[in-house]
Amino acid sequence: MEVRVAGKAGFCFGVRRAIEMALDTVRERDGPVFSLGPLIHNPQVVHRLAQMGIQTIDDVHSAGEGRLIIRSHGVGPDVMDAARRRGLHVVDATCPFVRRAQELAGALAAEGCQVVVVGSKEHPEVLGIVGWTGGSALVVEDPVEAAAIDVTGKIGVVAQTTQPYAAFESVVEILKRAGNQVKACNTICSATSERQQSALALARQADVMLVVGGANSANTRKLAQLCRAAGATAYRIETASEIDPLWFSGVRTVGLTAGASTPDWIIEEVMNRMSEIQDQNIPEEIVQETAEAGETRPEEGMPEETSSEETSSEETMPEEGMKDAVEVRAVRHGEIVKGTVVHVGQDEVLVDIGAKSEGVIPIRELSCCEVNSPQEVVKVGDEIEVYVLKAEDNEGKLILSKEKADAEKAWAGLEEMLESQEPIAGVVREVVKGGLLVDVGVRAFLPASLVDRGYVEDLSKYLNQEITARVIELNRPRKKVILSRKAVLEEDYARLRLDMLDNLQEGQVVPGVVRRLTQFGAFVDIGGVDGLLHISEMSWHRINHPSEAVKVGDELEVMVLKVDRDSEKISLGLKQVLPNPWDNVTEKYSVGSIVIARVVRLAPFGAFVQLEPGVEGLVHISHLADRHVAKPDEVVSEGEEVNVKVLSVDPGEKRIRLSIREVTKEKQTREPREYTREYSSKTQDDSEVITIGDMVGRDLFDKE
Ligand code: F3S
Repeated sequence: MEVRVAGKAGFCFGVRRAIEMALDTVRERDGPVFSLGPLIHNPQVVHRLAQMGIQTIDDVHSAGEGRLIIRSHGVGPDVMDAARRRGLHVVDATCPFVRRAQELAGALAAEGCQVVVVGSKEHPEVLGIVGWTGGSALVVEDPVEAAAIDVTGKIGVVAQTTQPYAAFESVVEILKRAGNQVKACNTICSATSERQQSALALARQADVMLVVGGANSANTRKLAQLCRAAGATAYRIETASEIDPLWFSGVRTVGLTAGASTPDWIIEEVMNRMSEIQDQNIPEEIVQETAEAGETRPEEGMPEETSSEETSSEETMPEEGMKDAVEVRAVRHGEIVKGTVVHVGQDEVLVDIGAKSEGVIPIRELSCCEVNSPQEVVKVGDEIEVYVLKAEDNEGKLILSKEKADAEKAWAGLEEMLESQEPIAGVVREVVKGGLLVDVGVRAFLPASLVDRGYVEDLSKYLNQEITARVIELNRPRKKVILSRKAVLEEDYARLRLDMLDNLQEGQVVPGVVRRLTQFGAFVDIGGVDGLLHISEMSWHRINHPSEAVKVGDELEVMVLKVDRDSEKISLGLKQVLPNPWDNVTEKYSVGSIVIARVVRLAPFGAFVQLEPGVEGLVHISHLADRHVAKPDEVVSEGEEVNVKVLSVDPGEKRIRLSIREVTKEKQTREPREYTREYSSKTQDDSEVITIGDMVGRDLFDKE
């Protein structure tokens, strides 16, 4: 007796994913775990899950504090909201294919379409989809119900994921024939029809079919019906213990299939039991039929499951539905194909590559670097290339990798770029010790010292930013790529500098930003290129350090003093764009007037005094007093304020002669008089205005 296993049997992708999420949740041991509805239509599995601590509840309000698993059927947003309002941590295990149907239904409703869902009215998945339309969607189970719909305006049609394509197609056809404007979105998942086709093909060759699955599993019952229709004797069993050896008396070939809620471990138990029966009777080899590429032997351990797969379409025939209706392409493992992102979930992305069903990119296959959410990498509508990891896995799903497709393409490009020194674009994905990890199709390292032209204190500002860098080292066998962004920036800077040098005119006033201070001046960025603002060109008055005039980050206007194209140096001036205190100095300090000044420097021949910032004059030693003075410090000291008389003013030479002696003389011969002339000097930032006229009138002789 030969035992064959159907190529497509047992858990579908969405069921397996939901079970894995449930088990991960319960393993975290972080309080009670609830499942909204049985996670799977298989009593044995539900029992095991309950033993592990997952309690099944029928209503969100029955849950205490803890975590709530939403099974693969999905729910409407109202249920999600209710769960969150109760403070439950929601683990959303909605199958991505169901989620996509929900999103499409919601979008169609938002567009103003009357949404029609082809499916079973009471099915939880359908109730969830209707919920995403705000409850406005109509549900039809067949073309007859569709014909009875009385709607004007646009109609959007989606399907319960387990519906046969023929039913969906008929409903769309009926609605169109009624004169409606119909937008049809095929949301059918191929997993169910593939299992049915696989079971049917096997049943045509077998004498007896064993259909393994829960008694409450609609799709398992459907598989048994199909097998009988194909002429085989079919037994539906839940566990291996139900097998009666007498069923196989005189039988040459036994076929084995399983519903979408049947875990691998139950299938394996059935296989073991069949081996025992074979040993007892005719010890022939047990052969497994494989999908396309070899073994489909059930995996070890407790397989886990859900139930979004439970179709209620009892009358569904597994004929070639979608295959006939839609032109599909076959893909092979290792192939790189183009596709369009149709859904971006929490942990995976669905991509339409024109195959029977959308392919799945698990989050770990999205990028060479760690990503927190698929949204960081792709969005719906993106055209991307993907590598086919599994042409069709045991669950009937295409498993794809964007990372591998990117890597295949990237290595060839990287080698070329190393050779040509062309820059490459990439997105910064991680800050690591010593630098950044950049996604350039493969993971590349950008050392911190090569991130920018200068030191960068906080590398995290580059996270998720696209940057351009040069490949400076490449080792494909070791998967090593080293980048330098600094090299690209330096090159850009050099180019910009040359342009600037060509175009800058001496005397031109340009805006700038102070980038760096030194002892001798400041470097000012005048549009991507730095020029030197020397300390002597910062102010009309003497300063000891550049920080007295400017600070890093100051935005100011500077004059281009000199452009040296040979040495590529630009000299800038700040004081040239500020008011010159020597302008009108003859009017401000008329000969004969008496003003207050501050002694700033002593020399053997006299004292230099400041009349205002930037304007100094000399009191010669012979004018320091009305007596002989051997050394100026006999009469005045630095910092002291003195009254001086203006003897002469020479703006061209910037010389003012002053006298203290004349003031003393005048005081002795005249009554005090009023000096009320006003003049002022603005500082560079306009913040300080020194008015001397007032002081003159107030302070001179009257003061004494
Ligand atoms: Fe999902 Fe399709 Fe299964 S919709 S739950 S993978 S039948």
